[in-house]
Parts: sequence; structure tokens; C-alpha cells
Amino acid sequence: MNGRFMLDGQPVMFEEGQTILQAAKAAGHYIPSLCWHPDFPPHGSCKLCIVKVGGRHVSSCALQAKDGMEIESNTPEINGERRALLQMLFVEGNHFCPSCEKSGNCELQAQAYELEMTSARFNYFFPVRPVDASHPDILLDFNRCIFCELCVRASRDIDGKSIFALTNRGIHKHLVVNAESGRLGDTDFSALDRAASICPVGVILPKRVGFAVPIGERIYDEKPISLVSMEKER
Ligand code: FES
Repeated sequence: MNGRFMLDGQPVMFEEGQTILQAAKAAGHYIPSLCWHPDFPPHGSCKLCIVKVGGRHVSSCALQAKDGMEIESNTPEINGERRALLQMLFVEGNHFCPSCEKSGNCELQAQAYELEMTSARFNYFFPVRPVDASHPDILLDFNRCIFCELCVRASRDIDGKSIFALTNRGIHKHLVVNAESGRLGDTDFSALDRAASICPVGVILPKRVGFAVPIGERIYDEKPISLVSMEKER
């Protein structure tokens, strides 16, 4: 059964089975997201897609739309909460955007611009996360991980290899490589794997192609992520 909900005071039609985020996007309404990807089931970890339904916070990527819902999304309060989530991600890792190969193509950076984040606000953790350059074609920079698990999911569910995993919990959570040595070079990971090109930030990078497109001419240098996202699937 199809239906209709109200999003920030505007009617949005949806089809049976669509989540709030999917229906909103299909109707041309942007809701920020990081861990959601159209090729995978909702993951629900980043919480950037939070909206309020009947006054309660929910993840719009995971909650199925229902007829008559009253949803708030693009409000100063909710965008402030999204900004705080981004700020926590920035201080939890080591994000040096000006020198990052992914600058301008990075969804975390793009969301920070989208949500007008001007400072990290919280104290930096400065975790020690050595890079892994052991693979002939791929560099891993764990400093930039945002725990979306897209690489974990792609490697497990599409490539059938389970190369990546998250280990530990809370502030000790981090991405690891499933090899006894912990090194990517000791796995059968390939630069052609789906997992090799799915990272929304700058963790999984191909070697020898750095800065092929100059900073300033990249996807989110040209347009905000809200526009890019509405133009294509993801
Ligand atoms: Fe919904 Fe990450 S996009 S929780």
C-alpha cells in the first residue's frame, strides 16, 4: 500500500517498503547520511540521517515510511545534532583534510560543509593508527575511518572475501584487516574488489593515482553533497 507522510510540512508520497530516507530522496528532499548506501541494507550506525517522528528521534535510513507520519528533518535543532555527530567523528580520528587525497571527494568533509561545521568543538583524541602500505595496489589509512562498515559489507557480501572488520567497542573501536599479520598485503584483496572503491572517506586509496584530479575540481568542490546526492544514486 502506498501512502503519504509530511516532511517539514510538505507532503511526500511513498511506496510500500520504502524507508523515510528513500521516499524523501525519491521525492527530491535531501536527508544527510553517511553509512547508508543504496546497494546495501540500512546500517544505522552514523545517525546522521536522524529525523524526528512524532517528537522521537529515529534513523530515517532504517525506518519504513508509514502513512500519516509527521516528520521533522531540516530544522536548526536536528541539523545542530547532526553537526555534533560530525564533530565527534572528526575528533575521534585524525582528519587532515587539506593534505588528504580524498579532499573534495570525501563525504565526511562534504557533510561538514553541508551542515556548516566551522570547528571540531570537542577535544581531539589523536589516536595512533599507523597506515598499511603492504598491498601492491592499495594504501590503507585507518586515521580516516568513520565506522560505516561499507568496506566490511562490500567485501563480505559482494566480494565474498571478508577482508575487513571492526574490532573493540566504544572509543576503542577501529577497523582491522582479517589476516593473521593484520596487513592487507597478506590477503587476497584486489583493487578491482567492490570494497576497494566504496569508502566514502579516505581510508582505502589506490596507489599511484594520487591527486589525478586537482583539489578544487572534485565532486564536492563543485557542488554541495545535497545536490550531488539528489542527482545520482548516492
Ligand atoms: Fe542512517 Fe547512517 S545514514 S544511520
